[in-house]
Amino acid sequence: MKITSAEFVKSAFNRSHWVNDGRPEIAFLGRSNVGKSSLINSLLARRGLARTSNTPGRTQSINFFLINDGFYFADLPGYGYAKVSKTMRADWGKMAEEYLAKRDELALCIQLVDARHEPSKLDLQLNEWLEHYEKPHVVVATKSDKLSRTDLQRSLNVIKRTFAGVDVIAYSSQTAAGRDEVWSRILEAVGHRA
Ligand code: GTP
Ligand code: MG
Repeated sequence: MKITSAEFVKSAFNRSHWVNDGRPEIAFLGRSNVGKSSLINSLLARRGLARTSNTPGRTQSINFFLINDGFYFADLPGYGYAKVSKTMRADWGKMAEEYLAKRDELALCIQLVDARHEPSKLDLQLNEWLEHYEKPHVVVATKSDKLSRTDLQRSLNVIKRTFAGVDVIAYSSQTAAGRDEVWSRILEAVGHRA
């Protein structure tokens, strides 16, 4: 995949701030600290474009990136960080459900889970929403570099069994393993408007 341009467009804190020029959009969703921003940077081969951090729960807005002038990446806030307040947790649900229900431009949702762990209740709930709102989606298992080949295979089997019927791609933002596979799903979804 040749990236001719990748630029941060804006941070949106509510619906009126979402980009609205009709270009197709790829959303990145998953638990706080699972590696959403790192996956975006790795896919785009731009190190600091999406801000990554060791402080989970930091991104509270939807961050939009315009790729090759043809489609958007939307980096959504993470969920499930234990230390955020109840109000913030409820806000996440509202924001995510509104986004998934109303975002017609959504061409593909990339749901991230940590390759080292069994999916959590919230991961399952998000997956149910994706099914319910009939959003095309794929599961990406991040941080695959932290597991041996055998453990990774075992873990992928558990994840596949948990999300029955969904494709699961193993990814490492450190080695870029899985990059071609994820890109091919994205390009398929945006109709090769790259
Ligand atoms: P929030 O924005 O808080 O929701 O987090 P996020 O999902 O965007 O996670 P982020 O990309 O900021 O990554 C969190 C931490 O995990 C960072 O320290 C990353 O360097 C690390 N990380 C992310 N992906 C990988 C990976 O594939 N391999 C390894 N080893 N570390 C990773
Ligand atoms: Mg992030």
